[in-house]
Amino acid sequence: MLADAAQVKRLQEKIRNEPEFFHREVLGYEPWDRQLEISRSIRDHRNTAVRSCNGAGKTFHIAHEGLRFLYAHGPGAVVINTAPVWTQVENQYWRYFRDAYRKAQYRLGGKLLKTQLNIDEKWFAMGLANDPDRMEAFQGWHAENIMVIFDEASGISPKIYEAALGAMAGGSVVRFVLIGNATQNSGPFYDAFKDPTFNKIRIRASDVPNVAQRRQVVPGLITHEWVEEMAVKYGVDSDIYRVRVDAEFPRHASDTLISVDAVESAINADREYYNEADDISGLDVARFGDDDSALIRRQGNHAEVIWKVNGNNTMTLAGKSAQYLRQNPQTKLFIDITGGLGAGVFDRLREQPDIADRVFGVNVAGTPRDPSTYVNIRIESWANVRDWLKDAVLEKHEDWYQLANPKYKITSTGKMQLESKEDMKKRGVSSPDVGDAIALTLSKPTEGDNLGVTWL
Ligand SMILES: Nc1ncnc2c1ncn2[C@@H]1O[C@H](COP(=O)(O)OP(=O)(O)O)[C@@H](O)[C@H]1O
Ligand SMILES: [Mg+2]
Repeated sequence: MLADAAQVKRLQEKIRNEPEFFHREVLGYEPWDRQLEISRSIRDHRNTAVRSCNGAGKTFHIAHEGLRFLYAHGPGAVVINTAPVWTQVENQYWRYFRDAYRKAQYRLGGKLLKTQLNIDEKWFAMGLANDPDRMEAFQGWHAENIMVIFDEASGISPKIYEAALGAMAGGSVVRFVLIGNATQNSGPFYDAFKDPTFNKIRIRASDVPNVAQRRQVVPGLITHEWVEEMAVKYGVDSDIYRVRVDAEFPRHASDTLISVDAVESAINADREYYNEADDISGLDVARFGDDDSALIRRQGNHAEVIWKVNGNNTMTLAGKSAQYLRQNPQTKLFIDITGGLGAGVFDRLREQPDIADRVFGVNVAGTPRDPSTYVNIRIESWANVRDWLKDAVLEKHEDWYQLANPKYKITSTGKMQLESKEDMKKRGVSSPDVGDAIALTLSKPTEGDNLGVTWL
């Protein structure tokens, strides 16, 4: 009996002091060197803050570390984790956590639920929501040993930070881990990097083995091709590159996506036309009766504003659009159907058999082709416009300058999001109807025939 207790004690000490032993021998998992650095920081420091590029294995590793804390410091060990939105807690951290638990080389004991592992009443791991209205969930644990993990920490409410500090007060072994993309240049995550009580770690894309060695070393982590693409698309000086690749905080709270210069260089540019068979028109339907609806036509690298009409009358727009489609039998029409107004026009046009198969709807709030970079189709289409503009020709029209108006921000998960029309209105910038119309022609349709066809 005594020998057993001594053995358990020695094993636990090893788990506590040699994170790589636990990960390799117990979980059968091989962290890369910066992941191990995070483990050692957690071993040696009460507070750890990690700012990192995308796809470095942050969530994956921290889930394994949550498991290690339980067995390094239990019984009487509690691990609490959260992330900005619940699906991140449930489908990322806890998916990794459950996998790690199940693949362990030894029976780890306890009862595993979707977002909980219960060993006994005072010995458990649990996912909590980042919900400032339910702060009490974070308070009053008074656990003997406690670890609190904030994943995508930039996006976690300051109130939840406060509540977590309360939960950690008075514990005997306490670990606080903040990890994520450095997406906001203010707030508690930003402040942690100026706080002397935090051990700070920064992981750049160039540190990731797949990038450093230019080959796939760890499947699932970012690659050097991805880094190069980010550099070409956004430039190494852009905020998006700083945040997603260099693990640096952005310079601005938000950036405009398209520069005035890029628009100006394309207007009546002396550039050769090409790819004219790629003939798509875009109809942006005004949100409010006093805004404009706009139709533009894009043929390859060339685009022109066909008409703008005041208001959003479904019958007028459907009539004008049907006439336009009949006069231009080559073009397809992509209509923004988000929010219902454009859907009326779309339905009306789809009822007319001679043009129906050339009419497509785009729910710009829908899932983009590249969901790891963009929150929705709208920003993805606008990013496509930005790329397209580099060698495009815009038929002169004052409204093209609207393209330089919307700002984008980087969400706490490191994805890009375009400023909403409502927010633009609030800062006194006109609704970019012509911009939205050209963006539609470079977007992924979500309604209509032949959706399997690749347009771009
Ligand atoms: N050390 C590792 N060994 C094997 N696979 C890993 C390792 N680290 C990360 N991964 C894989 O990389 C993918 C991305 O990791 P994730 O933690 O979600 O990235 P991040 O949170 O940094 O965006 C995961 O699907 C995981 O399977
Ligand atoms: Mg993650």
